[in-house]
Amino acid sequence: MTQILVRGRLLSFLRRPQAIDDTESYRYEEDGGLLVEEGRIVAAGPYGTVRAEAAADADEIDHRPHLILPGLIDTHLHFPQMQVIGSYAANLLEWLNTYTFPEECRFVESEHAARIARHFYDEMIRHGTTTAVAYCSVHKASADAYFAEALKRGMRMVGGKVMMDRNAPQGLLDTPQMGYDETRAVIAEWHGKGRNHVAITPRFAITSTPAQMEMTAALAREFPDLHIQTHLSENHDEIRFTGELYPDAIDYTDIYAKYGLLGPRSLFGHCIHLSEREADAMSEAGAVAVHCPTSNLFLGSGLFPLKALSRREKPVRIGVATDIGGGTSYSMLKTMDEAYKIQQLLGERLNPFESFYHMTLGNAEALSLSDHIGTLEAGTDADFVVLDAAATPAMALKMEVTRSLTDELFLLQTMGDDRAVRETYVAGKAMKAVL
Ligand code: GUN
Ligand code: FE
Repeated sequence: MTQILVRGRLLSFLRRPQAIDDTESYRYEEDGGLLVEEGRIVAAGPYGTVRAEAAADADEIDHRPHLILPGLIDTHLHFPQMQVIGSYAANLLEWLNTYTFPEECRFVESEHAARIARHFYDEMIRHGTTTAVAYCSVHKASADAYFAEALKRGMRMVGGKVMMDRNAPQGLLDTPQMGYDETRAVIAEWHGKGRNHVAITPRFAITSTPAQMEMTAALAREFPDLHIQTHLSENHDEIRFTGELYPDAIDYTDIYAKYGLLGPRSLFGHCIHLSEREADAMSEAGAVAVHCPTSNLFLGSGLFPLKALSRREKPVRIGVATDIGGGTSYSMLKTMDEAYKIQQLLGERLNPFESFYHMTLGNAEALSLSDHIGTLEAGTDADFVVLDAAATPAMALKMEVTRSLTDELFLLQTMGDDRAVRETYVAGKAMKAVL
């Protein structure tokens, strides 16, 4: 079996960095080698050592002087919203009703869904994202297109058919029974096929009746290993309306808890305005708050207290994500650039090691998938990305005076985007080269 031996500067995380000088939290190999066979990493370490382990006929690819990191991970975005990006709206609910819901209606057509799926995966690869967690539309055809394209490209992807049965146009509604049946069909057809993972996906409490939430609860009981994704506490008007729709719940988080949706496989988009009680409940359940900085700024939703939530006595698990099309960039580098600025506005520091941890191992841990992705450990999937901090003339100029790894990472985050991604490897295959 042909091996490939990739040479470059390797950077991967072992755990969350505690401070900017926490050098024990990551592994950095100035002249590193990564040996890949059958889609898996066989060895990673100093080039000389790994070279000695490689077969004599291994194909060598030299990426020096670039950085090689685990593939970037995006834990929340909407596959049917590629043509919603940059829609001019005052706030979340206006944006949903005016642009987003009408656009998602188009995914009833499987040809349209298949075309957008091709563009979607092209953008993932272009931006160095090797695993993403997406909402499809309410239509089963959209989930079929999403997973079929992931299978074609061999990518580890998470996704779900959205369930929604009220407060949206007719063309975007299922029923409690239909949402349940179609989710079961998507699980049967796609979960575990290739590297696909199906997520149980009620859009948010506003668009699901209590009857639909009961069905979601049934799915969560029947499929306890699946991810669950929904939205929580993004916008003040949304929170108020949700409270009116579920008057018996103590707060927004309690609605999801009542239906058995608050657990360690649950990913809650946004979580900007949580009360202390809600943050405690999230922490106790091991649920994940997914921060979507470009979306939160674009829609004016608020400033997510990332640092404050992670240093609580009861810390909340955190993921980071683009939230396309509320988000404005597919780039996880840009995403962390905006996350950094949000913490600045809150008087907090987010250091570059924390940022790169979040894009890679942090998000893998948020998905409970760090045995497979987010690291360069032997035995894990050979999904990795090659980054060039001198990708543009302006970046190259700044690189002339950049001396440390810390500064290089910070430059990549601050000025980088898809242009800084030299190559994206999925299961050991260079994907950008063949786009
Ligand atoms: N809340 C419910 N649906 C959505 C969505 O599509 N995007 C965002 N940002 N928030 C939501
Ligand atoms: Fe979202």
